[in-house]
Amino acid sequence: MPRSTLRARLLDWYDANARVLPWRVSPGARRRGERADPYRVWLSEVMLQQTTVPHATAYFLKFLERWPTIGALAAAPDDAVMAAWAGLGYYARARNLLACARAVAGEHGGSFPTFEAGLRSLPGVGGYTAAAITAIAFNQPANVVDGNVERVVARLYAVETPLPAAKPEITRLAAILAEGPRPGDWAQALMDLGSLVCRPKAPLCDRCPLAVECRARAGGAPETYPRRAKRADRPRRHGAAFVLMRGGMVALVRRPPKGLLGGMLGLPTTDWRAKPWPTADALAQAPAPASWRRLGEIEHTFTHFALTLDIYCAEAGAPDPDLIWLPVERALAEMPSVFNKGLRLATR
Ligand code: ADE
Repeated sequence: MPRSTLRARLLDWYDANARVLPWRVSPGARRRGERADPYRVWLSEVMLQQTTVPHATAYFLKFLERWPTIGALAAAPDDAVMAAWAGLGYYARARNLLACARAVAGEHGGSFPTFEAGLRSLPGVGGYTAAAITAIAFNQPANVVDGNVERVVARLYAVETPLPAAKPEITRLAAILAEGPRPGDWAQALMDLGSLVCRPKAPLCDRCPLAVECRARAGGAPETYPRRAKRADRPRRHGAAFVLMRGGMVALVRRPPKGLLGGMLGLPTTDWRAKPWPTADALAQAPAPASWRRLGEIEHTFTHFALTLDIYCAEAGAPDPDLIWLPVERALAEMPSVFNKGLRLATR
């Protein structure tokens, strides 16, 4: 099938099946001349690198209500943005989000650069995000390759090289397909096909507009693509976390600005190390002398390691002014998930 026919089939499918998403200009509206807001496209793409569409949508709507423009976000206090990001993970991205908003507001007169190289010069904007904004917000040609697109392309051409080594090959194949009209719709059509039809485990090939062209389907096992190199098991680390309560308030610390969960509120903890912490060693690092009780442990998986945290709980005598005291509900809203697991264990 000529490339132009394949493109037309997928774009026709997108015209009829595009998901309705709060940052998206529908294909019909785009045809009538409506333009996407680069602020919304950028914000959604940064959030979607963290999580699924349903989870990101709630955060996107919350951010947009609170900070409706890039100028409003640029003027927000750091702690408010970090708190609003809590639960999305990868907190360095939240810091870059603010740095980027401030760069656009301060150095670019409040407007995003309209070309890929200009976008890439912004804090936290890498190749993927720059390409996505170029195509989706500015409707200019760009090769947008996220996980969905990788899967669709790997299946279409039955790419046998396992990921991540296959990335350059998949990117090259995607670039050839991306050439042509409607760059913004093309990028989003591939994403929607990957999400709705060319699904990771159970692809719905009988609904796919590209099925007759798909080499993985012809081979009989499309769900086995993309091939993947086997991932080594994550190392495990151990720590102890302390839930110090006083009258419905819990004692927190602000984590150092750099490093894992940097700048976020969290429970006080020991270091996280390869061997478990005996109780006496753990309690020697507790934030205050108190009658600590061990409640159990929680598990959390980060990208590069798994963590077991022993959770200790105590009632505080006097409120220690070196700690940050927040009501439990607010702590749950503002802390990363790993600490919420510990606090829930202590307050359920
Ligand atoms: N995943 C990443 N970016 C997306 C977008 N713009 N629309 C839908 N899914 C996406």
